[in-house]
Amino acid sequence: MLKNKITQMLKIEYPVFGAPMFLVSYPELVAAVSEAGGIGCFPSMNYRTTQELNEALFEIKEKTQKPIGVNIVLYKEHNPNWSEQLKVCLDHKVDLIITSMGVPRTIIGEVKSANAKIFCDVIDLRYAKTVAKAGADALIAVCAGAGGHAGRISPFSFIPYLKEETGLPVIAAGSIATGRQMAAAMVLGADGAFIGTRFIASTEAKASDAYKTAIINAKPEDIIYTDEISGVYANWLKESYDIWKNSKNKDLKNWKEIYSAGHATAQIKNILPAKKIMANILQEFNSVIKRMQD
Ligand SMILES: Cc1cc2nc3c(=O)[nH]c(=O)nc-3n(C[C@H](O)[C@H](O)[C@H](O)COP(=O)(O)O)c2cc1C
Repeated sequence: MLKNKITQMLKIEYPVFGAPMFLVSYPELVAAVSEAGGIGCFPSMNYRTTQELNEALFEIKEKTQKPIGVNIVLYKEHNPNWSEQLKVCLDHKVDLIITSMGVPRTIIGEVKSANAKIFCDVIDLRYAKTVAKAGADALIAVCAGAGGHAGRISPFSFIPYLKEETGLPVIAAGSIATGRQMAAAMVLGADGAFIGTRFIASTEAKASDAYKTAIINAKPEDIIYTDEISGVYANWLKESYDIWKNSKNKDLKNWKEIYSAGHATAQIKNILPAKKIMANILQEFNSVIKRMQD
C-alpha cells in the first residue's frame, strides 16, 4: 500500500508529504521530511524576493538531495511574482510544484518539460475537473478540518468522490497526524497523506514556541473556520483569532501572531523531530494495516 503510483511518480519512499505552511515550513523542516523518506514542501510566498527563494533552494540542496516540493499560489493579486518563482524552482529542478488558486493551464508544458510533477490543491469537484483538464498529475483533496485554507467537505466523502469522478491520484489533506488516520485516508482511496498541523509541533518547524505549545494544548473544539482573517475560509486557533479580532491592527502581515491549525490538534501531544513524527506515523500505519489483514 505504501509503494504506489505516488512513490513511483515522485521517486520517494513513502507517500507522505510535509505540507507547505506559510511562515512554518523552511529548509530545515523540508529537508528533514524528505530525508525521512517522504517529501518536504514549502510555499514560495515564505520569501519576499526570488533571490531569497533561490537562496532557500540552495540551502535545501545542501541539506538533502532527495525530492522536494514547492507550493506556488497562481494568483497575481495574492502573489504577483508567481511566474518568476516558478522559473527559479524549475531552474533548481524542484521535483514537485503544488498549485493553489488559479489554474495551471499556461504552465503545465513548462513544468512537464522540466520533468517536474504538478499537483493541485482542490476543495470541490468543479475546480478538480478544471485542473484535471489542465493536466494536473494528482489532486490534493483539502478536506474539512485541514489547517490553513480548508475545504468544507468531509474526507469520508471527498476522497472517494474525487477519485471516482476524476480518475486522478488523490492525496488526502486534513487532520492526518497519526498512522491510523493515514490508513483511514488510504482505505478511502487516497494515494498519499498531506500532513501540515502535526509538523507545526516539530523541532524543525519555524513556528514560535508559543505556537507549538498552543497546538499541543488545543482541542478540535478550539478551532474556528472563518474567512474573516484572509478573505478565504481557513481554520484558526480560536484563542489567537480572538486576540486578532480585538486588536486594532488587523493587517495580515501579523500572520505570525495568528495561529492556523486543523482538527488534528486532537492527536498532537508533543513536539518531536520530523524524523520521529514520520517514523511514528509509518509504524502505526503498518500495524493498523496488518491488523486489518489478519
Ligand atoms: C500554518 C499553516 C500554513 C499553511 N500555509 C499554506 C500555504 O502557504 N500554502 C498552501 O497551499 N497550503 C498551506 N497550508 C495548508 C497545508 O499545506 C495543508 O493543506 C494542511 O495543513 C493539511 O491539513 P492538516 O493541517 O490538518 O494536516 C497551511 C496550513 C497551516 C496549518
